[in-house]
Amino acid sequence: MKIAVIGGGSSYTPELIEGIILRATQIKADEIVLVDIEAGKEKLEIVGSLAKRMIKKSGLPITIELTFDRVKAITNADFVLTQFRVGGLDARASDERIPLKYDVIGQETVGPGGFAKALRTIPVILDICKEIEQYSNDAWLINFTNPAGIVTEAIHKYTSVKAIGLCNVPINMKQMTATILEVDRDNLNMSFAGLNHLVYATKVFVNGEDKMSTLIERIAEGRNMNMRNIHDAPWDKEFLQALNALPCPYHRYYYMMDEMLIEEKEAAELRGTRAEQVKVIEKGLFETYKNPNLDVKPKELEERGGSLYSEAAISLISSIVTNDHAIHTVNVPNNGTITDLPDNVVIEVSCTVNSEGPQPIQVGKLPPELNGLIQQIKAFEQLTIEAAVTGNKQKALLALTTNPFVPSSKVAKLLLDEILEVNQAYLPQFSMKALV
Ligand code: G6P
Repeated sequence: MKIAVIGGGSSYTPELIEGIILRATQIKADEIVLVDIEAGKEKLEIVGSLAKRMIKKSGLPITIELTFDRVKAITNADFVLTQFRVGGLDARASDERIPLKYDVIGQETVGPGGFAKALRTIPVILDICKEIEQYSNDAWLINFTNPAGIVTEAIHKYTSVKAIGLCNVPINMKQMTATILEVDRDNLNMSFAGLNHLVYATKVFVNGEDKMSTLIERIAEGRNMNMRNIHDAPWDKEFLQALNALPCPYHRYYYMMDEMLIEEKEAAELRGTRAEQVKVIEKGLFETYKNPNLDVKPKELEERGGSLYSEAAISLISSIVTNDHAIHTVNVPNNGTITDLPDNVVIEVSCTVNSEGPQPIQVGKLPPELNGLIQQIKAFEQLTIEAAVTGNKQKALLALTTNPFVPSSKVAKLLLDEILEVNQAYLPQFSMKALV
């Protein structure tokens, strides 16, 4: 079994390698190819050497190859994992900084920041998919590249690749719920529905008993339900009780927009935006990875937002390989699962997974308090994809204006002009349009 990792030089790769080692008996990988762009040569070599040491220590018969040749990596792969970042952390920093100038939330995956990242990423992922269609058309693509839901929707709309969008938020919510309720994660029965970075846990059961109100009470008392990369603004108890569903950590940007914006602006001034902080963390991580005696995933990786990424990815692969029908929350085409959304949009939802891939568990109609925000963000996502594929500036303007972080069409226009200007090198679809 061959696994190709696109963006193999990412600092998250040791997470993945650890997962492959821990699940070796189920997934039986024998070939891992880490591929990256030539500009990422140094990182690929450092991460690749650590990955090789980790595999050597495990004693498993797995080869690791490093390459810049994407087609070679993709050819005959059984699984292609995408975890790349077009424009690197510099582009992420500008995604976070530009909106702040206009008093708008600046975040890498949601709002105008996520919009900019989608414009840069979608043309690249569609190119990768053309290669998969040509050189390994039966491969599964597990997409972790952000904004994961939007990117996965673009893949399903424009290619025939078997793609699953994956995020570590649902598995982290489940893990934190297990900790808060003091139960084993395997004894917890949770249902998730929504969109990527906008997913709700709609049911929480332990041994047949509904635990949603206990969970909500404990979170409102301050128990941790957050990711490392998000400011830990406390939830309002009455609001959570009224909602009677568990919002994901990213919902803070929507439900506490004022508070989150104030904090973001202060943090950007004092400590830098998250991308600027991550640059410092990454520098330290790569220094650690260089140590020739290191042959395990280092503890320092936990400072990043990607915890449990490997478990989510590798257990998903394992369910496909072993046909175990386990439940995973992943990004898949809606096809009637949430009845108020079109069939061809991608949602994040609990699915049973077998060798045919994820089978969404029916949701039906969502209550208005969940449906309202989901409809608005899905409209923003659809427009963003259309803009990214066509380079149509009107669609781009409509996308930004539809986003709830953006207060007016005037601000949307200012944001759009700046985003297109700063990202020019990565947005050929827009500059080509300018020539017409
Ligand atoms: C969370 C999100 C990921 C995101 C990551 C960022 O885990 O689910 O989509 O990429 O945080 O973490 P970072 O450490 O890069 O800020």
